[in-house]
Order: sequence, then C-alpha cells, then structure tokens
Amino acid sequence: MDPLTALGAALAAAHFGTPITYYAAAKRWLKTPWRVKRGPSYAPAVTVAIPTYNEARHIEEKLEDIYRQDYPRDRLEIFVVDSASSDGTAEKARRWAQARPDAYVKVVEEPERRGKASAINTALATARGEVFVITDADCRWPQRDALRRAVSWLADPTVGAVTCLKRPAAEGPAGVEAGYRDRYNVLRLAESKKWATPIFHGELAAYKTELLRKIGGFPLDIGADDSHTATQIALMGYRAIVAEDLWCVEAVPHNGYHRWRIRRAQHLLQHFLKTPAAEAPPPMRPILLAEKYLHLANPWLLPAAAAALVAAATPPALALLAAGAAALAFRPYRTWAAAQLYLIAAAVKNLKNKELMWEKQDK
Ligand code: GDD
Ligand code: MN
Repeated sequence: MDPLTALGAALAAAHFGTPITYYAAAKRWLKTPWRVKRGPSYAPAVTVAIPTYNEARHIEEKLEDIYRQDYPRDRLEIFVVDSASSDGTAEKARRWAQARPDAYVKVVEEPERRGKASAINTALATARGEVFVITDADCRWPQRDALRRAVSWLADPTVGAVTCLKRPAAEGPAGVEAGYRDRYNVLRLAESKKWATPIFHGELAAYKTELLRKIGGFPLDIGADDSHTATQIALMGYRAIVAEDLWCVEAVPHNGYHRWRIRRAQHLLQHFLKTPAAEAPPPMRPILLAEKYLHLANPWLLPAAAAALVAAATPPALALLAAGAAALAFRPYRTWAAAQLYLIAAAVKNLKNKELMWEKQDK
C-alpha cells in the first residue's frame, strides 16, 4: 500500500476507533453500581435561577412549570434575572409573580446585558437555598417531582452537582438531533456512574450552593457555565452526575439549527481547553482525557483522513472514500459526521468570537 493511502486509512481508523473504544468502556461503567446514598425525603431550601434575555414567549409557562413542582413551597425561591430584554420579559414575569405571591419569585432587572453567567451570578450572590438550580426559560421539566429527584442525589455528601438527561422537543434536520442524544445520554450516565461527567445541562443543573461559592460562581470568560462549574466541583473531589431518573425537554430552534449547534460546541471547546485533566481525582482522569481528546483533537482526523485518501487516489483509497460517503445513508453515522463538522467549525469560530452573548433564536 502506498504511504498516503496507509496514512489516510490510519487516520480514519484512529478517528473512528478511539470513540468506539471509549463507548465500549462506557458501556462497562454503565453496569457498575452508583455508590450514591440518595435521600428520597431530603428537602433542603432550593433557589432556582432563570436567566432571561427576550423570553417573553416562554417566561410565564416556565414559571408555571416550576410552580407545578411538588416541592414544599416555603423551601423554594425563584429568581428571574433579566438582562435588559426588549420584548417585555421582565414585566411579564413581574405580573406573574404578583398574581402568585406564594411562589416566592423575585424579578431582577439588569440595566444592560452582560451575558447569562453574569446574570446567574447575580442570583447566586443573594440566594438563600442550600441548593442552587439553574434552568433555561425555554426548556420544560416534564416530571412534577423533578426538583425532589434532583436534590435526593445531593443528599449524599460525596455528590456536589446533579443534572438531567436531555430529550429534544423536535427531531432536528434529518433526525440528527434525536440520534445524537441517545448515545450522548449513555455516555453522560456512564461517566457519572464511574465518577463524574464533564458535560452538564443548563436546562436543569443543581449544585450545592456552598461549593459554587467556593469556586467563585459561574465563569465570565467562557460559555458552558453549566459544565465548567460542575467540572470544577468534580476537580475538588465531589461527584458531578447526570441522574438516571431526571429528564428535561429542550427546545430545538426552528431556524438556524446549525448555528445553534456550532455555538454550543464553541462553549464546550472553551470549557475543555480551560480544564486541566491532571488535576482531576483518579477515577475522573480517564473521562476528562477522553472527552478533551474527543472534542479538541479527534474531529480533525476526519478531514485529514479524507484529504490523504483523495490525494492518494489509489483504488483502495477511493474505495474507502466511497464507503465513507455511502455510510452517510445511516443515521448514526450521519449524526456523528455532523457533530465532527460542528466541532471543527466551532474551533475556527472561537478564534474570532467566543459568542458569550448570542442572538436569541426562535424555538
Ligand atoms: N439574563 C440573561 N442574560 N440571560 C441570558 C442571556 C443574557 O445575556 N443570554 C441568554 N440568556 C438565557 C436565555 O434567555 C435562556 O433562558 C438561557 O439563557 C439559555 O439561552 P438560549 O438562547 O435558550 O440558548 P440554548 O438553548 O442554546 O442554551 C443552551 O446552551 C447554552 C450555552 O451555549 C443551554 O444549555 C444553556 O444552559 C447554555 O448556557
Ligand atoms: Mn434554549
């Protein structure tokens, strides 16, 4: 075999081989016990923070959704922190709060937009809850006992942060979104069972308030505030886990799906670049090393392999390329390839603009 064909084949083998190997390891971790002592009746004071920027379409329903939770009402306070929305979000929230004084809703209006992390830090500064929960305005908690389930995991002193599994409200183009989430959830759960997952979900992320304060709150210089704080808590030696019985439904944008995926990938890349794997507790180290590699480096092997095979232009090289193209007919492969392209586009975009304040997309 000529060297270029061999190089292309080797790059392709590494690109697909590493995640498959990691997934196989994850499946083994999935079979291990949790080693977490849950407290089903644990009901600490909880603060829920909803950051909003132009969420007039969602805010009332979101507040209703939390109000429907069966959590003891006097143990729950809700902050809406609005960053100078121009669509009347804050007024709507205020009117809702006046109509339901027993919901303990505080609406904070920031004079100017400084980003999501800054807004949730404002809530954290005066939060009275022992547990601090963040949630996006445009997502839903389909379980009435979502909060109780979330805090039951935090009853264990080794657990510092808990997040939900995610289900998309819509399929996304060609079923890509749903296909992506199945395998993604398996990985999150497996990592959580082993020790901690470095990827958290802002749709429902619950932290021990004391630990959040210890790490200085949510980071202002990168996106992925949810994942980065959870990972910092894990680096301190606590578990940061996806709960197996906690679900969120997230809205998928009608327009600009690709832009949305790229922005979120940008934030994850910023998070992994900033996270030192060497400082992780031993069971977390392989998880962080693998996820850092899979997000930061592995995607680039795919175009590199394709380029080498095109340049080689030998019959085996062309056969490999044709097989790669034909495989696009299969959804899991298509989903995978799309994710690689989003990560590559995100790395390039990060050089120019970190997208710490993004345009509100219609959902
Ligand atoms: N107060 C405030 N100020 N809130 C903001 C700002 C801001 O500048 N920017 C966004 N938000 C709010 C939105 O109103 C929404 O409630 C939440 O932050 C998430 O923003 P979306 O526009 O809905 O983004 P998403 O659906 O892609 O969110 C996901 O990705 C983000 C990172 O890219 C979630 O996982 C978020 O939790 C995550 O931060
Ligand atoms: Mn959203």
